Amino acid sequence: MLTDLRAFDLNSIDRGFIENPHPTLHWLRDNSPIHTNADGSVYLTRHADCLKVYQSRDMLSDKTDEFGKKFGQCPLHTHHTTSLIFRDPPYHTVVRKLIAGAFTPRKLAEMESRIEGIVDGLLDRVDDMGELDLISDFATILPTEIISFMLGIPEEYREKLRGYSLAILGALDPIVPPDRMAAGNAAVVEFSKILGDLIDHRRRNPDGAAEGEVLESLIFGEHDGRSLTQEELIQNCIFLLNAGHETTTSMTANAIATLLDHPDQHQLLMDEPDHITTAVEEFLRVQSPLQIGNRLAGADIELPGGEVLPKGTYIHTSIAGANRDPAVFEDPDRVDITRKPNRHIAFITGIHVCLGATLARVEGRIALGRFVKRFPNVTGNGPREILPLARFRGFTSLPIRVR
Ligand code: HEM
Repeated sequence: MLTDLRAFDLNSIDRGFIENPHPTLHWLRDNSPIHTNADGSVYLTRHADCLKVYQSRDMLSDKTDEFGKKFGQCPLHTHHTTSLIFRDPPYHTVVRKLIAGAFTPRKLAEMESRIEGIVDGLLDRVDDMGELDLISDFATILPTEIISFMLGIPEEYREKLRGYSLAILGALDPIVPPDRMAAGNAAVVEFSKILGDLIDHRRRNPDGAAEGEVLESLIFGEHDGRSLTQEELIQNCIFLLNAGHETTTSMTANAIATLLDHPDQHQLLMDEPDHITTAVEEFLRVQSPLQIGNRLAGADIELPGGEVLPKGTYIHTSIAGANRDPAVFEDPDRVDITRKPNRHIAFITGIHVCLGATLARVEGRIALGRFVKRFPNVTGNGPREILPLARFRGFTSLPIRVR
């Protein structure tokens, strides 16, 4: 049983919190739902409070100052302050419109049969292997193939993407040791060079894009007469590659781990595969790939309970906590693949709502649906290793046996 957590501080969390944050999140929600950390920032664990923050136009995502202090002037700083996710309008609006214009429903429809083909090919490989690491042999490959294809990344670079992405995203954790910072900077430099060359190539050969590729629309697209500069293009493509595969890898792996841990739900999904759509939503709720978000209050904000956070407050939203708030989800720790409605905020809401949510859901539905159907005897095959990060929930290794 947990004792007094008044001393909890998000900036000094331990391994136990990373492994299973939920007992702590429940305690915080009940006893300190607007929890102040030692640095004055607040950590919100109630669904209604997180929703209010995400829906308010006064809450800012721009992290130029914060990242200036955290990173100094370095490639990680350039990357994270040029990505749309950490910017506000008007820059955010321009980049978002350009990306949304590239990821159209038509492009996504074109992708669906490609996704089915890639999944079936991967499942054949899984079948041949019998014993495998779900992460490296399946879960990372599908989203990497899809987003790399959409951004025109040649095959020879694809296996490097997860390393780059973990190094770059790992630098966003509350505590970043110097070696992790150095790895993040090196990843941005290498990745930028690769993308710069690819973009130059596509500029010179605008007609060479394959059907379904979106890089060309990002290079040549305009919003209000403005197109992206080379640096903006490079950094936002790196962001898209990271956003497009890291979280989706975790969605698939977290889902299969959840099924292995809940045989009744696994059996139900095998017996009634039509539950796959609600099942994907439930996996996103109980093990949200992105667990913590941030906003800076650009004006005072009154939360639904009447508490006011003053302008200038740095806010951490607990997506994981909100998604298990008993005020919104009955019996929130129970996994129920038929849960409906399911108002989780794994993709958040508001002006930064995930631009890849539709793509991720399609990938999840096809990959998980076909995996479950094809491998009814799947079991764990040794210890799992979870990602050693508080912000992202997933695994570095998940050994399984499929027959
Ligand atoms: C299960 C998979 C995914 C999850 C859980 C997820 C989650 C999220 C979340 C929580 C945000 C908002 C972050 C914030 O503003 O604080 C976000 C933003 C974003 N995501 Fe995803 N994402 C997923 C897959 C994808 C995919 C596949 C793509 C691209 C193809 C993508 C592209 C983006 C982009 C571009 C943004 C920034 C939107 C903006 O700032 O306006 N995501 N995602």
